Amino acid sequence: MKIQAINGFKDILPDSVGRWQHIEQRARDIFERFGLQEIRMPILEKTELFVRSIGEATDVVEKEMYTFADKGITMRPEATASIMRAFIEHGLHVQQPVQRLYTIGPMFRHERPQKGRLRQFHQLDAEIIGAVEPRIDAELIAMGQMLLDELGLRVNLELNSLGCPVCRPPFKNRLITFLAQKSDGFCEDCKRRTHTNPLRVLDCKKPACRALVQEAPSLLDALCPECDRHFREVREALETLGIPFHLNRFMVRGLDYYTRTTFEFLTTDLGAQAAVGAGGRYDGLIEQLGGPPLSGIGFAMGLERIALLMEQQDAGKCSQNAMDVCLAALGTNTLAPCSLLAHTLRKQGVKVALDYSGRSLKAQLKQAGRVNARYTLIIGEDEWARGEGILRNMATQEQQPFALTGSPEEQGRRLMDTLLPATP
Ligand code: HAM
Repeated sequence: MKIQAINGFKDILPDSVGRWQHIEQRARDIFERFGLQEIRMPILEKTELFVRSIGEATDVVEKEMYTFADKGITMRPEATASIMRAFIEHGLHVQQPVQRLYTIGPMFRHERPQKGRLRQFHQLDAEIIGAVEPRIDAELIAMGQMLLDELGLRVNLELNSLGCPVCRPPFKNRLITFLAQKSDGFCEDCKRRTHTNPLRVLDCKKPACRALVQEAPSLLDALCPECDRHFREVREALETLGIPFHLNRFMVRGLDYYTRTTFEFLTTDLGAQAAVGAGGRYDGLIEQLGGPPLSGIGFAMGLERIALLMEQQDAGKCSQNAMDVCLAALGTNTLAPCSLLAHTLRKQGVKVALDYSGRSLKAQLKQAGRVNARYTLIIGEDEWARGEGILRNMATQEQQPFALTGSPEEQGRRLMDTLLPATP
C-alpha cells in the first residue's frame, strides 16, 4: 500500500516553489522597507497561550487545535499569540519601545479541507507592537495592500472597528436582546453563539442569518468617543495614503483578542474562501498574557491563498529555476574532469547541471532543455583530447569552441565571462 500525505496537509512541489519564493521575497522586501525585523518562534507552544489569547469560545480553540492533551501543548494555529509570548518572555520592548516584527511559517488548524483551506497552511504575519496612533493602523494596512499590489493581485479592503472593553460589553447586551427576539430564524450555530459569542452571529454566512442581521444594531454607532475618534483618524489616514476601503459593520474576526480597527483583504476569485489576509488591533492582549500594558496591531496573509489567487488572476509569472550551463560529458574518460569543472563552477556561483550516466548527446541536450539550461558545454573524448569543448547557446543553437586549457578555476572564469554578459 502506498503511503499518502494526510488529508489537509499538502506538498509544495518544485513547480510551485518558484511562486512561493517570489511571494516570500516580495514580503520580506516590503516588510523591511517598513522597518520590520524577522522573528522565528517554535511551532509547539503551551496550549494555555492560545486559549488565553484567541479565546475559549472561538472555533479555533473549541474545535480546530492540534493539541497533545497529555502534554498540555499545541501546534500553533496562528502566529500572533506566539510572537506576543516571545515579546514578553524576552522583554523586547526594553530594547526598543516600538517593535516591528514579521514571521513566515506553517500554522495548523483542524478545519474541513477545501480549496484554499488546509490543515497545515502558511502565513506571512506582520505585527507592530507598542504604538497606539491611528496612523500606525493605516501604515500597517497600507503595507499589506502594497504587498498585494506588488504581487499584481486585485483585492478589496474591508474595514471595521470592534470597539474596546468600554463600549463593546454594553453593545453585546443590546445585540443579545436583538438576537434573542429573532432567535427562531437563526441557524443552530447562531442560536448557540447568541449566548457564547454573539458578535460572531453578525458574520454567519448562511443567507437566512445574513438577512436577519441586516436589522441588527451596529457597533459603529455605539463606539465610545475614544474608539470613534481612533476609527475616524484611521479612515482619514488611509485616505491620505490613497488606500481605498469599504466599511463593513458585519465583519467580526474569528479570534477574540481584537479591539478597535479590524480589516480583511477579500477576493471573490477563490470561491467561498474570501480572505487572502486579515488582521487588526489587539490593545489588551499583551497585558492579558502577563506583559506590559502595550497595544499592538498586525495582520496575517495565507500563502496558499495568495499563490492560488496569483494563478487565478494570472498575476506575476514566476520563472522556474533555470540552470546556467549543462555539462554534456560523453565517454567515461571525460567524467572525472567534467565533475571537477562542474564543482569548480558551482563554487564560483554558477548553476551547473551534469549527469554521470554517459547517455548520448541527443539525450543530454534534451535534458539540458528540461532544466532550462542557457548553455550546454559539450565535452566528448575527442574534444577532451583536443583540449577544446563546444559551447552551445540553447536558445539560438549557435555553437562556439571553448578552450579546455588551464586550471579548472581558469576555465570556470572564462566560462563565466562568456555566460555572464548573456544573462538576461
Ligand atoms: P486569520 O484571519 O485567522 O487571522 O488568518 C489570517 C489569514 O490566514 C487568512 O486570511 C487566510 O488567508 C489564512 N488562513 C487562515 N486559516 C487558513 C486555512 N485553514 N487554510 C489556508 N489559509 C488560512 C490570524 O491568524 C491572525 N493571527 C492575524 C493577525 C495578525 N491579527 C493580528 N496580527
